[in-house]
Parts: sequence; structure tokens; C-alpha cells
Amino acid sequence: MPRTPIIIANWKMVLSYKATLEIVRSLKKLIKTSVEDVTVVVCPSFPSLADVAKAVSKTSLMVGAQAVYWEEAGSVTGAVSVQQLTPFVSYCIIGHSEYRRLTGQTDEQVAQQASLLLRHGITPIICVGEDAAQYEAGQTVAHVTGQVKILLQSLGRMSAGKIVLAYEPIWAISANNPSTPPEPGEMASIMLLLRKLVADQFDSDTAERVRIVYGGSVNTDTINDFMHEPGVDGVLVGSASLKPAQFAALVQAVAGTSKS
Ligand code: PGA
Repeated sequence: MPRTPIIIANWKMVLSYKATLEIVRSLKKLIKTSVEDVTVVVCPSFPSLADVAKAVSKTSLMVGAQAVYWEEAGSVTGAVSVQQLTPFVSYCIIGHSEYRRLTGQTDEQVAQQASLLLRHGITPIICVGEDAAQYEAGQTVAHVTGQVKILLQSLGRMSAGKIVLAYEPIWAISANNPSTPPEPGEMASIMLLLRKLVADQFDSDTAERVRIVYGGSVNTDTINDFMHEPGVDGVLVGSASLKPAQFAALVQAVAGTSKS
């Protein structure tokens, strides 16, 4: 079965509540793709999730959160639990490097979040990737392999097939001022590694179901080169998702590129 490509807008903490709803209004007009061609997920901050969910309820746009706490519920001031997200989202980004830096969360806690989300019917978009020092030291493969193994060990075969894995080299995120993003071929070799790790842990059928996306300085100049690589099922987009026309163009570039 071919995998439906996916594009995720990560709006981070950039937009006001009002600006968030304005972007959503524009995207509803601009994005005419069907759910069979591409999954489009927008990830606003917590305070606008409910209203964004309402605004897109009759469209093909899906809503995702940008984070979730790794325990089911409890006395954790400032945190948001999976149960609080379920009425509004079908996806949730976890393990983003910016959130890891903020909370100091470990790969084990990211794995815990993934299991929790899956149990509650929310698809986790799980970010892994190396930092600049690890990249320069040639440790990318070892680092990413370690992260993914911890994750996969906590998942069952059925739930593993439902995850979205995002390879996001930390140094390539636009906010970290990369001089250049990775070469598409270099990026694709890590995507292939990720799929192989899923196959090794479970089987090739499960690996073929997982959607694997790239994130880090994706824009209208680079998207086609990334999407043409084998095994790339989509993109996670930060700054280039903040301009509706630009994001709609990225959606168009991802739509219909399904791979199997
Ligand atoms: P960027 O952000 O597209 O601005 O590099 C991606 C991300 O951090 O998810």
C-alpha cells in the first residue's frame, strides 16, 4: 500500500492567537488538495488548538499539538496531558529539539509520550536528529540509531506502523542559522536507515507503513530536491509554514508524491 505523503506546519511560539486564526482562514482558501493525495497537519500553540480545530472541522486540514507531557495525568504545574489534547488534535509533535532543550526530556520520555499518544488515538510525529557537534564528529548514524532504538523498543508492532518519524538535524533548523541544509542524498540515507531500524525491530511490512519525513530549512527552493529522494514521505516545516501562500505551494509540491 502506498503511503500518503504528509506535510506538517510547526508554528512554534511565533504567532499570536489572532494571527494563527488568520493563517488558518487563508489556508482554508488556498489548500484544495484532497486527503488521499496528502495529509496536511497544522500545529498551533496550545491556547489556539480548540479554535483551530473548530475552524478546520469541515476541511481536509488536520490539527496537531506541538508537545505533550509524558505522564498520563497528575500534579504537574504548567504541563498539558494527552487527555487534554484528544478533543482537538489527531497528531502531536514530540521530541522536537527545542522542547527537549526546554524540558531536558530524555529519549525514554519521548518513547513514553509516543506510547501514551498512540493509546489515546493520536498519531505521534517523533523528531530525532543530531546536533552540530555530533554531525561534525561523524556521529549522526550512531546518535539517530540510539534514539530510534529506544523509541521502537517501547512500541508494539501494530502501533509502530502508525507513527510518523521526523529526521530533523538540529543544526539544519532555520532558527539555528544553518549555512546550508543537508544534501538531499545525505538526508535520504538517514531516512533509509530509519526505515531499516523499524524493519529490524519488527518486519518490513511494519517499516513500509511508517511515514518518515524530513525537517530543517525546508522551503519552496529546496522542497522538490528533498521530496524526490526515495523513502521521503513528507516534510516538517517551521518558518516557511508561516506564510500561507508559501505553505500552500509546499503542500502542492508534496501532494501526489506517494511512495511505497
Ligand atoms: P524550520 O523549522 O523549517 O524553520 O527549519 C523546522 C522545525 O524546527 O520543525
